[in-house]
Amino acid sequence: MATKKPFSRLPTNVLPINYNLWLKPCIEEFTFDGKVDIEVDVKEPTAEVVMNSMDIKISSVTYCQKDMKIFESSAIEFDESQEKVIIKFASTLAQGSGVLSILFKGELNDKMKGFYRSRYMVDGEARYGAVTQFEATDARRSFPCWDEPALKATFDVTLVVPKDRVALSNMNVISEADYFEKEFKVVKYARTPIMSTYLLAFVVGEFDFVEGKTPKGLPVRVYTPLGKKKQGQFALDVAVKALPYYEDYFNIPYPLPKMDLIAIADFCAGAMENWGLVTYRESALLIDEDNSSAHARQWVSLVVCHELAHQWFGNLVTMEWWTHLWLNEGFASFMEYLATDHCHPKFDIWTQFVSHDYMRGIDLDALDNSHPIEVPVGHPEEIDEIFDAISYSKGASVIRMLHNWIGDENFRKGMHNYLKQHAYKNAFTEDLWDALGDASGKPVRDVMGSWTRQMGFPVVSVTVKSRTDNSVTLKLSQKKFYANQKTIKDGKSPMWSIPISFSTYESPSKPVKDVLLKDETMEVTLENVAKTSWIKANPGTYGFYRVQYSHELLELLLPAIKDKSLPERDRLGFENDMFALAASGIAPTTDFLDALSAYENETNYSVWCDLDANIGSLSVLLWNDEDALNKFKKYILSLYDSTNTTLGWDPQSGEGHLTAMLRSLMIRRVGRFGCEKTIAEANKRFENHLNQKSSIVADLRSPVYSTIVSHGGPGELDKLLELHEKVDLHEEKERIERSVGSVKKPELITKVLDFAMTDKVRSNDKVFMIGSAAISNPIGRDITWEFVKKNWEKLHDMFKGSFLINRLVQMTTENYSSEQKAAEIKDFFEKNPPIGAERKVQQSLENIRRRLDWWKRDGKSISEWLSAKSE
Ligand code: BES
Ligand code: ZN
Repeated sequence: MATKKPFSRLPTNVLPINYNLWLKPCIEEFTFDGKVDIEVDVKEPTAEVVMNSMDIKISSVTYCQKDMKIFESSAIEFDESQEKVIIKFASTLAQGSGVLSILFKGELNDKMKGFYRSRYMVDGEARYGAVTQFEATDARRSFPCWDEPALKATFDVTLVVPKDRVALSNMNVISEADYFEKEFKVVKYARTPIMSTYLLAFVVGEFDFVEGKTPKGLPVRVYTPLGKKKQGQFALDVAVKALPYYEDYFNIPYPLPKMDLIAIADFCAGAMENWGLVTYRESALLIDEDNSSAHARQWVSLVVCHELAHQWFGNLVTMEWWTHLWLNEGFASFMEYLATDHCHPKFDIWTQFVSHDYMRGIDLDALDNSHPIEVPVGHPEEIDEIFDAISYSKGASVIRMLHNWIGDENFRKGMHNYLKQHAYKNAFTEDLWDALGDASGKPVRDVMGSWTRQMGFPVVSVTVKSRTDNSVTLKLSQKKFYANQKTIKDGKSPMWSIPISFSTYESPSKPVKDVLLKDETMEVTLENVAKTSWIKANPGTYGFYRVQYSHELLELLLPAIKDKSLPERDRLGFENDMFALAASGIAPTTDFLDALSAYENETNYSVWCDLDANIGSLSVLLWNDEDALNKFKKYILSLYDSTNTTLGWDPQSGEGHLTAMLRSLMIRRVGRFGCEKTIAEANKRFENHLNQKSSIVADLRSPVYSTIVSHGGPGELDKLLELHEKVDLHEEKERIERSVGSVKKPELITKVLDFAMTDKVRSNDKVFMIGSAAISNPIGRDITWEFVKKNWEKLHDMFKGSFLINRLVQMTTENYSSEQKAAEIKDFFEKNPPIGAERKVQQSLENIRRRLDWWKRDGKSISEWLSAKSE
């Protein structure tokens, strides 16, 4: 890691009570004028006030003491590196309350943070709106403030905006009046509850909306671009269902008088949980009945439920400092599944949790360059960096493990108590453990501390000590799991407190035993298990650990996968453990390849999704040997053949959400891997789509696009890029941007990269288009990395300090397998430090070296295995 930047939290000798904030964006000039009167509490007499302020010009500061004595500032100093302003007075402000008045001016920037401009089209004409994104530390770009989550206050917001624009903030409008410039209006909003600065929001622009009400009468609106209000209906239905669900789950009413959800054209993240005014990127909120895929629907549902969960968990009770960010994000990432399951039970979303969040978290956390869930952070650049899969996905996974361990009833009770106790205040991780511990009577603090305070997770090995006709005694032992066995350090492994359950052939869905493994080893006896029955540890894949079975236990499990007597989440978890053990060097990769055939008749989408991801990783390993890669592709085509043929191309009526997604997954893989029939059909359907003879169903567009470009030439690419310009739906543009990178010819890859840099691709989408060229094939990887180096200054300037820079670094560097490239990448980023992505560079380097070791270890045996298969 780079050396830490100096940082200190704000002094607490002067604290805000209420902000009376007045803002007038001047959209044509990309600026805004502001005035803020802050009621403060001077705790100790002082002649200086320190606040956060960034890229704001302050023209005057006065302080009016309670006794009406007025103080003019004597100096205004900025500490740019710490994003602070120090306001000095010639004499001392007395202890007690007063009002600090500040006049300022700022820029409506194009960086998608702070108070920024967003470009949208109306009838082919470009127009701009003004919107905010304050998390984590950018409220300070909009007005001088105490911009730390624990320094909560209330806010009275007033916006002065053109009369024909929609202007929204967290609260309801209490008055609207003419301004002295007659084309403007003055909109005042009700006072907010006590809240953190990062949750404040304003939006000014042109929108339509659809409105609904919860059963208790709370108005819920989804704001869409003009003329597209129908596209807000799906999200509205979810929100109207999810809000009462949370009210009931937490047993605490939603405290604000309204809930608005709004689609923003230029938006960096997926969505932001501003209290009462949640902002979304268009593709995370809008659903077009004819053109949106099943995947888009479930994504919108998850994102809406995620942000609504934050209205309690994050907004009502907020983490004390960013070290506890995971409390917000891990928790919302867990609740989004609970609520989506409630709104759309057919999505089988909890099984998908395992192939998505759980796997994303556990893969990253196996690296030496992971970090504990609770991580000390200071400077804003360090804060940006922890919006990662550890905070989100590992966070959600350990909460799911805990939920499963203490049970839903205790979990709800504990949550309610926690939220009540800390409402309108802040909390530490331990506060949550204590509430859940009290509710359940279980040692939650002790057990969970081992998961949040140390990085990594264990691998539990399970062997048979003895077996009788109807019982078995197992020996369990734990040690830290390393993504690369070669990097294991000498010395004692850290230990975890692991809730472990077991299922058996006799009881496949209901665990027969639950134990807590706290020490290195333990023995467990299971009763009522026949001698030939399979035994599965971690049923449901709730526990955040890997399992390594002895040979005899493994042999019993494989038939249970084939005949599907092992439940879905176990087939998935088993396969994923096998793969991780192979990739790390604990088991030979050929064991995993042998196990693959057991999945030939698999029918579950999530199991396939996970298998497919691992097949993708294996193919990146095989980029090292073209001949082996081709044999691998052939083998995979045969593995997919039966499911792919059964599903065919055309949806059957009433077939359901998961079938649609499975078909899409199948066609994408076999298309990419060169199935001739699929390529021909994809081309035919694409032509008909373009000629408007018959359009491709939304679920199949992305696989069709990637199939035709990965095997096509300039013609196919041009047609897709033309389509990109014609279509209006953001989801469709994203689909094209993320498919065209699979072209193979160097000049076409360059064309894709150049296109990504034009203003035809929004800046929030550029990274994914560039990334798609890097992850599709080795030629694309090489050309893209050269491109990134060449354009680094521009790219870094656009994306530094956001999660996009992390994605860019990750996608364009981590798929190498050579020490020479690792050295080159290391050297490049030492000379060009990527702000907010230093840890990501280390993770990429580790992944490159891990793959290299894997290839050295197993490359030959994999190639031999594949040769034998293709004889
Ligand atoms: N609080 C975040 C938004 C955010 C992300 C702010 C990064 C600052 C930096 C929001 O609740 C969130 O987590 N959004 C996710 C979507 C979610 C469904 C995982 C996102 O934007 O990806
Ligand atoms: Zn979140």
